[in-house]
Amino acid sequence: MLDRKIYQENYGKLQKMKEEVEKDPLLLAYHIYPETGWLNDPNGLCQKDGTYHFYYQASPLDENRGDIGWGHVSSPDLINYKREDFFIFPDSKYDKNGAYSGSAFIEDNKLSFFYTGNVKYPGDFDGINEGREHNTLKIDSDAYSYGEKILIMDNDDYPADMTKHVRDPKIYKKDGTYYMFLGARSKADKGMVLVFKSENLKDFTYHMRIETDYDFGFMWECPDFFDLCEKQILICCPQGLASQEYKFQNIYQSGYFFIDLDLENKTYKLGNFEELDYGFDFYAPQTFEDEAGRRILVGWMGIPDADYTNPSVKYKWQHALTIPRELKIKNQRLVQEPIKELEALRGSKIDLEKGKVYEELTFEGSAYNIKGDFKINLRKDVTLAYKDGILSLKMGASGSGRDERLIKIDEITSLRIFSDRSSLEIFINDGAYVMTNRVYAQEGYFKSEDLDLAIYPLGAFTFS
Ligand code: FRU
Repeated sequence: MLDRKIYQENYGKLQKMKEEVEKDPLLLAYHIYPETGWLNDPNGLCQKDGTYHFYYQASPLDENRGDIGWGHVSSPDLINYKREDFFIFPDSKYDKNGAYSGSAFIEDNKLSFFYTGNVKYPGDFDGINEGREHNTLKIDSDAYSYGEKILIMDNDDYPADMTKHVRDPKIYKKDGTYYMFLGARSKADKGMVLVFKSENLKDFTYHMRIETDYDFGFMWECPDFFDLCEKQILICCPQGLASQEYKFQNIYQSGYFFIDLDLENKTYKLGNFEELDYGFDFYAPQTFEDEAGRRILVGWMGIPDADYTNPSVKYKWQHALTIPRELKIKNQRLVQEPIKELEALRGSKIDLEKGKVYEELTFEGSAYNIKGDFKINLRKDVTLAYKDGILSLKMGASGSGRDERLIKIDEITSLRIFSDRSSLEIFINDGAYVMTNRVYAQEGYFKSEDLDLAIYPLGAFTFS
């Protein structure tokens, strides 16, 4: 149970946790991390009246995931952040076991959030077909507070062949009609996206489903649907895909389909599923369109149920959000570019001589003149190597259980690396491939024998 009263009663504990968090030498410098405790999915991303709002799944009193609600930071410029009051407490009968993931929708400057209220029944249930409610809730908000939690749909409103796992709403508006995309697991253990329809953003009816005509996991979490450069894109996180040598190397996946979706006529054609990330720590991404018209993606720099660990738990916090990335289409692929605002964090450029070690942890590094195979150190025991068309990221002890990830890439034309004190985000071929990772080396060690590297030391976000 986590409500405002319990939160306030734990003021002393939260202060102590904060002090511990601040002591972590590997606390991230330019990422959104929880002030205390646990963080998972980004939620409700939006920009309203110029201010960016990032909410996220959070359990502030427990770094190992306790009762989940929504944490909140705001920012005027994506560099300076303000920690706002805890946003959604799981304090109603509709969400008492978790204010789960959801999204923002803004129209005529009016903001609403849609999210999943998780309820678990006590007793001996499987929690899949029985013993659970996934309620779709709506709140109207000014971004800082909200009115009543309105129940929009419950399990009885979802198709009868669904399990109780139907969650993570995202709204899309087309030709005056609102569509809600929800991730779902059917009783036949097939993952899919359900689409509901509404004329007033309150009364929703089942419209259609989007699924593959082949086996593709038992559950699809966190769907997102949007248009970009005349393409329609469906993002989702399938669970239950078998690992292949160069694909699906994590326990759960995050990726996208190009889709030709005719919502009016309920027809669609899905392209191939492409992974959004090939690193160890990426899940549940969400996108939003900012006031400048950019489509920005933020992911959870973590993943559920992984068998590797995060030593930050010793300092009473766990997980972070990725740096925001602007989405673009290049050469028929969705590419992710770190948002340009991050350039404001740059110090003076350094050209690193081959074989020389750069000892800082927080920097942006780029390789140029890439010709053929290479090997670089990102930490002393972390290497990124390209050989015979395979890019491999190998981590030693500082991976804290993370070992190796491989990507098959015919040619590498560009490489951009964002290193924070305990993370690495690697953008390959202008962001056509990305690897997002946590890493826990105490010392910086960036070195290349064969590539020319340019480095910008990076400063830190401010949090007030
Ligand atoms: C994805 C997810 C969502 C859910 C949330 C709960 O990581 O499992 O499907 O809404 O996390 O925290």
